[in-house]
Amino acid sequence: MSPSTSFSAAPSILISAVLLLSSIATTSAFNITLLLEKYPDFSEFNSLLSQTHLADDINRRKTITILAITNDRIGEISGKPEDVQKRILSNHVVLDYFDVLKLNKLKDSKTVLTTLFQATGIADEQQGFLNVVHSKDGSIAFGSAMKGAPIDSKLEGSVASQPYNISVLSISHPIIAPGIDGTLSPVSAPPPKAPAHKVPPPAESPEEEDAADAPTTDAAAPSPVDAPSVAPSPDSPPADDDANQSPPPKNAAGKSWFLVYHLG
Ligand SMILES: *[C@@H]1O[C@H](CO)[C@@H](O)[C@H](O)[C@H]1NC(C)=O
Ligand SMILES: *[C@@H]1O[C@H](CO)[C@@H](O)[C@H](O)[C@H]1NC(C)=O
Repeated sequence: MSPSTSFSAAPSILISAVLLLSSIATTSAFNITLLLEKYPDFSEFNSLLSQTHLADDINRRKTITILAITNDRIGEISGKPEDVQKRILSNHVVLDYFDVLKLNKLKDSKTVLTTLFQATGIADEQQGFLNVVHSKDGSIAFGSAMKGAPIDSKLEGSVASQPYNISVLSISHPIIAPGIDGTLSPVSAPPPKAPAHKVPPPAESPEEEDAADAPTTDAAAPSPVDAPSVAPSPDSPPADDDANQSPPPKNAAGKSWFLVYHLG
């Protein structure tokens, strides 16, 4: 009696198990869109993540931190073209888990964070990295790791967190890395040679060679952020390390892309 009952139940148990396993395989640990929907102050930031499809990139990650901006301060980003918005916003997605507690523990070390923008391979120089500074008064601020960029985007608090999968932190205003929005080129602009620029530049134009040489020159110069890395923290799982280093060829490609963008 009882053996035959459990035997007939086995197939449906098996089917349930298969369905459960397949749903685990296709569902991420979190859904940033759903998570932010609970916080109306961040509704514009949330829609921008969806519009630029960054939400999908974020949901595919396992350990991530989002530096979010409230509706009243996002104007600086929302007025820009969508490709620029995407670049700027991907620089607000840190490829490791940081909550306020963990950031406070980093007080005595110089910390450089790797962002999703670095993972795209189009970041120029240090554009894909962020610096974190701790002030004497206990406040924490973020800024682009580009040389001379202001580090004044203050940490205002935690919005949501699911340790150690995802953390959403609120910051005082957008971080706009020099050159990322196309208003300022980090490579020195070529001297104005009006006739030369009227014709479309050939693939091997001298300007492009200059631009491709630029990273080498910069790399030789002493820089406080020569070797960007996320400071190891004893209590966290390893960072997504597929994007900690952008290979030089990709960087060079990004550089030419950047120049073309400016000439065009
Ligand atoms: C995340 O949530 C949004 C809003 O409910 C939904 O439209 C989207 O399909 C979800 N994404 C995933 C990967 O489940
Ligand atoms: C983090 O993700 C793992 C694996 O996807 C999941 O098992 C765990 O419940 C998640 N943690 C939280 C706090 O949601």
